[in-house]
Amino acid sequence: MEKTRLKINPKILVIDDEEGIRKLISAILTKEGYDVILAKDGYEGLDFYQKDFFDLVITDVKMPGIDGIEVLKRMKEYDENAEVIILTGHGNLSTAISAIKEDAYDFVPKPLDNLRVLTSAVEKGIKKRSLKLENSRLLKELKQTNNELSRKNKNYFEVLSFISHELRNALSIVSGFIAILLTGSLGELNEKQSEIMDKLVENIESINHLLVNYMNLSKIEKNELTVDKTELDVFIDVLKDVVDVIELQAKRNSLDIDLSWGGIPKGVKLVADASMLRIIFLNLLFNAIKYTKAGGKIAYGYKDCGDHYLFNVYNEGAGIPLEYKDKVFDKFMRINTNAHKGKSGSGLGLFTVKKLIEAHGGKIWVETEPNAWTNFLFELQKE
Ligand SMILES: Nc1ncnc2c1ncn2[C@@H]1O[C@H](COP(=O)(O)OP(=O)(O)O)[C@@H](O)[C@H]1O
Ligand SMILES: [Mg+2]
Repeated sequence: MEKTRLKINPKILVIDDEEGIRKLISAILTKEGYDVILAKDGYEGLDFYQKDFFDLVITDVKMPGIDGIEVLKRMKEYDENAEVIILTGHGNLSTAISAIKEDAYDFVPKPLDNLRVLTSAVEKGIKKRSLKLENSRLLKELKQTNNELSRKNKNYFEVLSFISHELRNALSIVSGFIAILLTGSLGELNEKQSEIMDKLVENIESINHLLVNYMNLSKIEKNELTVDKTELDVFIDVLKDVVDVIELQAKRNSLDIDLSWGGIPKGVKLVADASMLRIIFLNLLFNAIKYTKAGGKIAYGYKDCGDHYLFNVYNEGAGIPLEYKDKVFDKFMRINTNAHKGKSGSGLGLFTVKKLIEAHGGKIWVETEPNAWTNFLFELQKE
């Protein structure tokens, strides 16, 4: 048996107080294959419109009760995709202007002596409404997909943050046991054993660093970065802890941190989030150590610029190819030139640093000479 396709005729609502006109339009449009519903005034028209689906509305302007412009306005309020054709007398400019303001779709002049004008306006109006409806449907779908993706993304970062926390806890227990062994209370370690212990500690530190970056990434992606500002002294509240870790790392790599440029002494005070500043300096200084050359110089310092400070972290070594000057701050960005290869990392350090600095209203950039030196500079407001 051959299947027959059900064809639904477009449905048109015609609102006019003159019965003759209603009947005329109905006859013309029915002949064209439309379903036509007639309303004798604006109230009835609005009532019908809310109870049923219409592909198009045609309304007269001058009617008792509410006029066609008001009908148009209320219909648009009820359904932003409504398409309404206005029946208007020849040369009625003020009606046309008000109708355009209310976003009428088209005008058909009365009396209806040219049927083509009506039918072609109807055809176009129906097409336009169906496109608008399709657009709205697609937009809604897009929003739904977007919400779904954001939700999944958020879940993913929650898991990342959870695992990072768990791993950090486990690591801190391992560190604790290592610390006990290092005291020598369970027996002095020989040279080889001490060397291995050093390697263990170094690796634990770098995993720890990685996990902290993952935890921050998770916060950034979930929009949960909250800056907890206090009045702080950069050396006392931020750098003291950081420098210990960095100096140890530098010593292990036989590097000297050159403080001849001044470093950052006590007394540099600003209002900021101390733990975020620690992460900023740790990442930049770790990078300086990681990407310096053997015997290369590492330096950091600050400049008082009135309402803000300019900080810098410098190192000699690989430098950064100029086309990467902005890109190094992108998420997961790692440079793969010969000078950079073979260093482990996540590509999250500079991304995090930039976000944390921006969360303080500051900015960071890099100056560099490839194969010679790299200087990261960042500004932070004092208040
Ligand atoms: N001081 C530096 N000198 C040269 N290259 C650097 C320096 N700091 C960062 N880079 C480059 O920028 C990339 C991104 O840095 P970062 O986000 O800290 O990631 P990671 O250190 O995990 O590789 C690094 O992989 C490296 O190629
Ligand atoms: Mg790094």
